[in-house]
Formats: sequence, C-alpha cells, structure tokens
Amino acid sequence: MSEIIYDRILNIKTNGIREWPEMENDYNRYEATPYFALEKLFKKVKIKPSDMFVDFGCGMGRVAFYVHNRFNIDVTGLEANQAVYQELQTNYNKYKKVAKHNNAKLEFKYLLAQDYLVNDNDNVFYFFNPFSISIFEMVVHNILKSYEKNKREIKLILFYPIKQYHKFLIQRTPFKLISEVQVSFDDLEHDKFHIYQLSL
Ligand SMILES: C[S@@+](CC[C@H](N)C(=O)[O-])C[C@H]1O[C@@H](n2cnc3c(N)ncnc32)[C@H](O)[C@@H]1O
Repeated sequence: MSEIIYDRILNIKTNGIREWPEMENDYNRYEATPYFALEKLFKKVKIKPSDMFVDFGCGMGRVAFYVHNRFNIDVTGLEANQAVYQELQTNYNKYKKVAKHNNAKLEFKYLLAQDYLVNDNDNVFYFFNPFSISIFEMVVHNILKSYEKNKREIKLILFYPIKQYHKFLIQRTPFKLISEVQVSFDDLEHDKFHIYQLSL
C-alpha cells in the first residue's frame, strides 16, 4: 500500500520534510518513518494491550497515529518544532474523526523531549533519529529514573540507528540490543530498526 493511501486511511498528512526555522545543531529535521518500515517493524515487535508508547520527536504524528489506530494502546507524542506541532494539531483534529471507536489515550505535548517527565508506566519508546547524542543521553537518563521508581520491561525502538546511540546504550546503560529489523538493503547500516530492552 502506498504511503499516501495510509495517510488517507488515518485522515492525516505526514509527508514531506520540515527544517527547524533556525540552524539547530542538536535537533534534527522532520521526516516521517515510512509506513512500509512500520509494517516490517511490527511483524517482529509484538505490542501488548497494556503497553504505553511514547514517540520522542513525533513530528506530524505518523507513528503515533499508526500505533494508536492499529493497537488501540495509549500513545504520547512529543514535539518541539512549533510549525511542525501546528501541523500535528491539524492532523490530530482530523484523525479524531476517524478514530471515534478507539478509546485508548492519545496525547501530544509541545515540549522538548528531554523535559518530558516519563510516566512510570510508559514502556515502549520510539526514536527516529530526532536529536544529538547529548539530548538522547538526557532522555535515556529520564527513562532509567522512571524505571527505578517502577521496574518494568522497557523497549527502546530506534529507526535509523546511529553509532553513538548504540555505543552509549551498550557501554553505559543496562539496555541490551535484542533484535534488528532490516528495512531495505540500500543503506545496510542505517535503514533498519534496533530494538533494545531492559527487563525486570
Ligand atoms: C526524523 S523526525 C521523526 C518523526 C516521527 N517520529 C516519525 O518517525 O515519523 C524527528 C522529529 O524530532 C523533532 N525533534 C528534534 N529535537 C527534538 C527535541 N529536543 N524535542 C522534541 N522534538 C524534537 C523534530 O522536530 C522532528 O519532527
């Protein structure tokens, strides 16, 4: 199914690229995870009804809407680019019209990912190369603090994984790389998902 058709089903518009208004060294531009990549990912990663999903740097919300619609679980999206957030709000209002049946929570916050107070039950965290390693370290630190308060199985899903993230997680945190999902063979190093897990 084409990318446009998926957007049409969810009644949203998520295509395109959006740069930050000013040069940003730590924050990356908007671009959505391809739908076909999400299809591949969720053949491998099983979502439970009790999972609570957070997209750090959710952009126009493609992954958040897709997960909410497909799995009927609570989803939170965080976005800090104001112009992108406005487009996200438009999508949210349109998505609500086609998702009346879905009673799981869906929430978007206009804030920096590193300022998000991780909910003690959030347990599946999604990153599509949103920011620099220094911001990623702060976010993972916040996730680990919430783990200390409520020990639970936690997954980090990284699309387009970068070496610095991997090195940090493996060398300086208890997360273990549990699987990889190759999306295409055009760019063997990046066109894939890395899934890390922290168990009880
Ligand atoms: C590559 S896009 C991914 C969008 C979405 N997660 C997806 O996969 O379709 C990364 C997004 O992260 C946002 N972002 C970058 N730094 C951020 C930060 N510190 N806090 C919140 N959002 C941020 C960007 O504005 C952009 O929309």
